[in-house]
Amino acid sequence: MFPSILLHLSLAVSFAASIPIQRRALSQNDIIGLQLAGYLENLELSLYSGGCEGFTNVQWATDGFPATFQQDVCAIAEQQQNQTEFISTTLETNGIPAPQACSYSLSYDSPTSFVLLANQITSLSLGYYLGSLAGFSPELQTVAASILSVEARHDAIIRNGMGASPFPTNQDVPLSSIWAYNLAQNYTTSCPQQLPIDLLPPLSFNGISGSTLDFSWTPSANNFSAPVGAAGQNLYLAIVHTNASDPIYQEVQTGQQGQGTVQLPEGLGGVVYAALTASSGDLTYHELTTTGTLAGPAQLVLS
Ligand SMILES: *[C@@H]1O[C@H](CO)[C@@H](O)[C@H](O)[C@H]1NC(C)=O
Ligand SMILES: *[C@@H]1O[C@H](CO)[C@@H](O)[C@H](O)[C@H]1NC(C)=O
Ligand SMILES: *[C@@H]1O[C@H](CO)[C@@H](O)[C@H](O)[C@H]1NC(C)=O
Ligand SMILES: *[C@@H]1O[C@H](CO)[C@@H](O)[C@H](O)[C@H]1NC(C)=O
Repeated sequence: MFPSILLHLSLAVSFAASIPIQRRALSQNDIIGLQLAGYLENLELSLYSGGCEGFTNVQWATDGFPATFQQDVCAIAEQQQNQTEFISTTLETNGIPAPQACSYSLSYDSPTSFVLLANQITSLSLGYYLGSLAGFSPELQTVAASILSVEARHDAIIRNGMGASPFPTNQDVPLSSIWAYNLAQNYTTSCPQQLPIDLLPPLSFNGISGSTLDFSWTPSANNFSAPVGAAGQNLYLAIVHTNASDPIYQEVQTGQQGQGTVQLPEGLGGVVYAALTASSGDLTYHELTTTGTLAGPAQLVLS
């Protein structure tokens, strides 16, 4: 009986007080995984602090938000602050520098546009924790999952605030580290550090008309011998949705250089991610998100 009581006490103490994971041999995956977590937490902290301070009660009310919504955004900001500190302290306790905040480009000018952006960025962070879980050592897996479930609740209340379903899909989309890091670049203008993760050529969505998704990329910005979109090269948009093991590959109709369209399949919802690839579907999710990505990924909020 005693050993089990002691175990419970020690777990209770380490979770309640958010004591950082004590000095231990962090694996290389743990280190890069925590650094990327800290990198994303810094982005979210800047986002939610800005949203907490940015608008008056009257502005929130004018945009139709309930009276308690601003307090919720401020509470999320405080939790982001604590999550950021927890990750930083865990790294520093182990002699690893914690990522510093970058300069961000977070474009919103009203409570409504803030909340739309918050859904995009929180989905990204949530997807990262989900996708990175298996790469952490067992003890850190629990830590990462305990942040993931809180991120999911933040996202649910934000989505509820924007009038969308708090839980649009049965499953969330896991993001690989390289995809998560590249998605974060969309909101980052300059940074005191780069993480050792490849930067991929960006992909931008221009709009959806009916079921046609229009997008563009920089044709020369890749390391492949043939320029992307060269004559004769078939291109596909790989759409990663709720079942990440089963991306949908849609053939791209190329327009002018660096621009294309695909038909969006029916039945997709929530937040999905897509990347330009030369593969028509024979890649694993890991292959797709590393060597298989010619441009992207980009995030698409469908519902
Ligand atoms: C954040 O951490 C501080 C200091 O440990 C604590 O007082 C506060 O309650 C925490 N906030 C949240 C939202 O957990
Ligand atoms: C492209 O090649 C350069 C130099 O070899 C490398 O540093 C960079 O990470 C590569 N980028 C991608 C997207 O693979
Ligand atoms: C996901 O897709 C794979 C490959 O098509 C399939 O085997 C698996 O059953 C799917 N999982 C779910 C939960 O739909
Ligand atoms: C970048 O962020 C903007 C503003 O939130 C969004 O509209 C756009 O889709 C994002 N781009 C990518 C590549 O995810």
